[in-house]
Amino acid sequence: MEASIHETTPKRIAVVTGGNKGIGLEICRQLSAKGVKVLLTARDVERGTAAVKKLREEGASDVVFHQLDVADSASVACLAKYIHAHFGRLDILINNAAVGGWELEPEALALLNQPRQGAFSILPGMVLETPEKAVECINTNYYGTKRMCKVFIPLLQLSQSPKIINLSSEYGKLKFIPSENIRKEIENINDLTEERLDGLLESFLNDFREEKHKDNGWPARSSAYKISKVALSAYTRILAKEYPTISINCVDPGFVKTDINWNIGPLTVEEGAKGPVMLALLPDNSPSGLFYCQTEVSSFD
Ligand SMILES: NC(=O)c1ccc[n+]([C@@H]2O[C@H](COP(=O)([O-])OP(=O)(O)OC[C@H]3O[C@@H](n4cnc5c(N)ncnc54)[C@H](OP(=O)(O)O)[C@@H]3O)[C@@H](O)[C@H]2O)c1
Repeated sequence: MEASIHETTPKRIAVVTGGNKGIGLEICRQLSAKGVKVLLTARDVERGTAAVKKLREEGASDVVFHQLDVADSASVACLAKYIHAHFGRLDILINNAAVGGWELEPEALALLNQPRQGAFSILPGMVLETPEKAVECINTNYYGTKRMCKVFIPLLQLSQSPKIINLSSEYGKLKFIPSENIRKEIENINDLTEERLDGLLESFLNDFREEKHKDNGWPARSSAYKISKVALSAYTRILAKEYPTISINCVDPGFVKTDINWNIGPLTVEEGAKGPVMLALLPDNSPSGLFYCQTEVSSFD
């Protein structure tokens, strides 16, 4: 990395992925209100700068934009270089960016736009899960987080109180995998390795492409999303074991009204951001390798 000209900021420095809207934007808002310097990142420069402008207008002065596409290694490396050069360390990494891995039939899109129909009238058969969407979902939600962790852990190791928070989901629990053998393999955290986890994801994608995923014990619906989040939860445990000096947890924000679920979630983004923000601000030597449901410790199964 280049020689650095660090800002001498005593403030904690946070990176939030997918910060331009939804829960990510609200995490940026709440962290900033708690005195954290926030790097609000987004894959789209216009959407990201508009989000920063909005937070600044609300009075959040220490929020900065940087482009970041978690599916693009060069973009991840570029952000790391910027943070190294400007701050010399990172305190908080919030892996929030995700996609659903599905698309809607035109009929469902039309329903979404009708005032008295809306998202509640979308039936499961109107939600398409294609191999392309499945690959995008695994690549963003799971490998995107891995890309971020690999590049940013060296910078987090320079922090006094480093934290990684991975946004998982209720669907990130093992109970959503029908196959007992696959569940057992992922649950056995003492033997599970990153390589094996990656291998399981490859098996899932191959089965999905060949339309064998239901027969082979993978989830029938929201398949790629569930697998991406189960893998993310397991990866959180693997990382926490490997890096005991970093507090690394995953959190289900709850069912929140955002674009990912066509805005049908009952919780507000304020409620959804509470858990991730609480974990980001935990005191030193706090628990690591845990699954939280909003602000409470939960289980991985
Ligand atoms: N809402 C819920 O009920 C719920 C429940 C459980 C878990 N979660 C999790 O909470 C997190 C936030 O979701 P949300 O509900 O706020 O959804 P959202 O409103 O759809 O926001 C998703 C964010 O991720 C960004 N993103 C997608 N692909 C990206 C990429 N390759 N690189 C960088 N950013 C990317 C999106 O950017 P664009 O605007 O460019 O698309 C957007 O900013 C996700 O991890 C989600 O799985 C949500």
